[in-house]
Amino acid sequence: MGEVIAICSRKGGTGKTTTAQTLADGIRRAGHSVLLIDLDSQHNLTAAMGADPNGLNSSDLFDINTKPARLIQHTNNGDIIPGAAELAAGDKELTDNGQLKKALKPFIKEYDYIIIDTPASLGMLTTNALTAATQVIITTEPASFSANGLADLAKIIKQIKRNNKNLKLRGIIITRCDARSNAVKEVIADIHTEAAAIGTEVLEPPIRATSKVGDAQRKKINLLDFKPNDNTAADDYKQVIKVLLNE
Ligand SMILES: Nc1ncnc2c1ncn2[C@@H]1O[C@H](COP(=O)(O)OP(=O)(O)O)[C@@H](O)[C@H]1O
Ligand SMILES: [Mg+2]
Repeated sequence: MGEVIAICSRKGGTGKTTTAQTLADGIRRAGHSVLLIDLDSQHNLTAAMGADPNGLNSSDLFDINTKPARLIQHTNNGDIIPGAAELAAGDKELTDNGQLKKALKPFIKEYDYIIIDTPASLGMLTTNALTAATQVIITTEPASFSANGLADLAKIIKQIKRNNKNLKLRGIIITRCDARSNAVKEVIADIHTEAAAIGTEVLEPPIRATSKVGDAQRKKINLLDFKPNDNTAADDYKQVIKVLLNE
């Protein structure tokens, strides 16, 4: 299969990390092998997975002397190459957008899916992730298109596509959504319009806002395992995962 999915957004706090972890978990439950890569120097994904950011980490992917298998941590929540603070330096020092793609070659043979959580900037780490990816998923809160910087991100994706013809803008996931107000309903309608304008779709349904997300992360439990009978966000992600896997 060899799918590499980059989860991106221009803004912080739009649910990238939550989405990366939960999609990975759902895709794994569907019977596929999945490797998560935390490419954010804040390493929230590493923390939520219960992995250790103090040893080898994803910044070592860019060092040709590191043996690939040593980077992977096998946690109860799944396999991950952790992130660490030193990634911030990588964002400044990397000069080649193609470095991550080369580094991921050995993993593509081992895993059906690689899911990359990216930082909120459009720096070299994100462009490396997009160059390595076969699919990109954008997360956004139900705020206006321009407030989320979706247009800037769409522009970068278009540029990367010139060198990475495999890259598909798979869709937009609306997260942390409370669609009761008319204002939010209008914003959601606008996001659909803008998605069509940049040649993609909104992956349905929007992920509802619930405190269960933060609770699960603090307890280092995958969202889909956390209070499964009373967890609207988990229910919504399950639907999105079905859409992604064409089930
Ligand atoms: N559906 C949701 N409902 C409520 N809170 C959420 C939801 N998704 C994410 N959050 C919370 O919002 C914050 C930002 O989410 P996160 O996934 O870390 O975003 P990003 O990686 O884009 O910064 C976190 O505290 C997380 O727990
Ligand atoms: Mg994050």
